[in-house]
Amino acid sequence: MIVVSAASERPLIAPSILSADFARLADEVAAVAGADWLHVDVMDNHFVPNLTLGLPIVESLLKVTDIPMDCHLMIEEPERWAPPYAEAGAYNVTFHAEATQQPVKVARDIRAAGAKAGLSVKPGTPIDPYLEILPEFDTLLIMSVEPGFGGQKFIPEVLSKVGVVRRLVDAGELTIVVEIDGGINSDTIEAAAEAGVDCFVAGSAVYNAADPAEAVRALRAQAAAAAPHLAL
Ligand code: DX5
Ligand code: ZN
Repeated sequence: MIVVSAASERPLIAPSILSADFARLADEVAAVAGADWLHVDVMDNHFVPNLTLGLPIVESLLKVTDIPMDCHLMIEEPERWAPPYAEAGAYNVTFHAEATQQPVKVARDIRAAGAKAGLSVKPGTPIDPYLEILPEFDTLLIMSVEPGFGGQKFIPEVLSKVGVVRRLVDAGELTIVVEIDGGINSDTIEAAAEAGVDCFVAGSAVYNAADPAEAVRALRAQAAAAAPHLAL
């Protein structure tokens, strides 16, 4: 029997603008028309050793696109900084489990501000301690590289965490979008799809392509063909 997840009936592709040209962001967003989510990596140079962009640029981007915005906050103090992204109109706001002692409070504040709430775990962070709070979340972002930089190599060991959550979703015990981030390309997306991912972040694989919108379509078709729970 093919079990279709209630959370997602097809692969979601979320291009990461971390690999875009930051001087031409509006054009770069337009270049991925047809993407399911627009993945925006917010880094504070404290939680990760890199600095990208923050709320003012997210607010500007929200004005130039209808693609649901997926904000991935790699920042300290999400208690303080995450809810404003939801208030600004982001579709999904994800913060890191490693960055707070109050993940449930942050999730509730994000949801109260009108966005979906996401929890992210770094490659070395186990998922088991967080399983019981996942009902407070709409998305689970499993990092498949160390957060901080695009263009890194996919870490396949994280797929065991995907499988744990996929089984809970398919058993009807949890409704959540399982998202993966880091090193996703045409060589790695099928293994992630087979493991049970719903939403695939791709930065360099999309923005280094000659035609980013076509790269999104190709990745989606590849994921859909690889896993029954993603069949288009
Ligand atoms: C890394 C970011 C990713 C990054 C992925 O910390 O969270 O979203 O943009 O880039 P690729 O797809 O090139 O690994
Ligand atoms: Zn990201």
